[in-house]
Amino acid sequence: MDRKTYYITTPIYYPSDKLHIGHTYCTVAADTMARYKRMLGYDVMFLTGTDEHGQKIETSAKAKGVTPKEFVDEIVEGPGGILDLWKLMNISYDRFIRTTDDYHMSSIQKIFKTLYDKGAIYKSAYTGPYCTPCESFWTENQLKDGNCPDCGRAVQNAEEEAYFFRLSDYTQRILDLYKDQPGFLVPGSRVNEMVNNFLKPGLEDLCVSRTTFTWGVPVDFDPGHVVYVWVDALSNYITALGYGNDKYHDYQKYWPADVHLAGKEIVRFHAIIWPAMLMALEEPLPKSVFGHGWLLLDGGKMSKSKGNVVDPHILAGRYGVDALRYFLMREFSFGSDGPFSNEALINRTNTDLANDLGNLVSRTVAMVEKYFDGTLPAEQTAGPEDDELLQMAAALRGVYEGHMEQLAFQDALVEVFRVISRANKYIDETVPWVLAKDETQHPRLACVLYNLLEVIRLTTILLLPFTPESCEKAWAQIGVPVDRCNWDSAKTFGLLPRTVTVQKGESLFPRIDVKKELEALEGAV
Ligand code: MSP
Repeated sequence: MDRKTYYITTPIYYPSDKLHIGHTYCTVAADTMARYKRMLGYDVMFLTGTDEHGQKIETSAKAKGVTPKEFVDEIVEGPGGILDLWKLMNISYDRFIRTTDDYHMSSIQKIFKTLYDKGAIYKSAYTGPYCTPCESFWTENQLKDGNCPDCGRAVQNAEEEAYFFRLSDYTQRILDLYKDQPGFLVPGSRVNEMVNNFLKPGLEDLCVSRTTFTWGVPVDFDPGHVVYVWVDALSNYITALGYGNDKYHDYQKYWPADVHLAGKEIVRFHAIIWPAMLMALEEPLPKSVFGHGWLLLDGGKMSKSKGNVVDPHILAGRYGVDALRYFLMREFSFGSDGPFSNEALINRTNTDLANDLGNLVSRTVAMVEKYFDGTLPAEQTAGPEDDELLQMAAALRGVYEGHMEQLAFQDALVEVFRVISRANKYIDETVPWVLAKDETQHPRLACVLYNLLEVIRLTTILLLPFTPESCEKAWAQIGVPVDRCNWDSAKTFGLLPRTVTVQKGESLFPRIDVKKELEALEGAV
């Protein structure tokens, strides 16, 4: 039987700015979900990539004295570039699309022509405000204090012959979509934003071609026009599967996407324009769009132009990739905004990873070595202190799954760490060092240590999508082969052989000195 498929996408990133921790956030979330689904046995397609066309890139390249293609190549593929960052962050994408790839560009030309032939696109003239950094056209009444409502920067008046997409035809159909398919746009607050800000006032036709610059996909039947960068960009989700090209042949297999992740400011593109385009193309709609929140720095959105970029290279280099991945998924509720700070990152790493998880692993393994020379004896005696811990551990997988299916990463991690904390408390309750002194208590001691090893096994399987490298290191220490650590085995308590042998390793998460680090970081960032 064919395996069930799972198709997840991140937005494709603009290579104009250096990527910061905010971009890393969404990609880590997608990676966590992809790893989780693979663990469940799904055939996963995890797509990410770069959005390389548009005036902003053309202008930045000119300022640097290079061609736009040279400019994007360096940022995408060059040292310390986007591909390097995803490698560093252990991002297990299955496919990486660049909108400058030939196959994508020829698909865009076909999509544009199809929309034109179907009458969904028509030629007219555009006049009105345009925000270059956001690549967005606005109407006068959408402006905020005369500026771009998304980024607050000044808009320019643009006037040019252009093609338009009949977005105004879709207001009711998009409203119906939200009503008939309640999971289409999540969390629910994003639906209200779309309805109140865009759908209630009524959608207006969308300008989908430009003539004032050339760095884009040329409209092949009307020289001088290039396709609007958002039409080019959104279509990546299907061209990357082979829609309109022969490079790939997975459209039938993976489309419609299970979920598109998108930051809140680009939800309107994903939850209004994109479904409308697909309706016009008469193609199936994605199953859901998740509009996540922003990591805020000093109360505002991070951006290079604000000069407060937080560099994931530096943070991962200092604290480890897994600590950074864990922090991003644990500290913030995925659907809401949250304040980023280096102090919070360090404190979270120390509290959860070094103290709770790291100590549990190192203490347990050290005790098995000290009291039993590294191998537990077969004779083990259960005790009344075991019940609560064992029940919590056995129930964990189900609770975790419920949260993961909702992309509620924070809640899933809270549950895992509840069990880890309970295991630390269990050590205090059972006082193994007292049991060790009395030979007749050794069967009880062996059982306590076995239970701890099992809790470590179960919790680290569930942490695998979040902190993959550290989980494998923990398994090596508790003596369980990697191939035995899987979703199935996370269901049952007691799968480790009773006479398991452990192997002490280096500490998983060394404690960080907050004060010293914060001082050093100020200098580094
Ligand atoms: N190129 C478009 C997306 C096209 S998708 C068809 C784009 N690129 S972007 O590089 O500007 O942003 C990519 C994603 O990063 C967006 O979802 C955006 O919300 C996210 N983030 C950028 N800064 C962020 C934070 N500070 N916090 C969380 N996410 C942030 O938009």
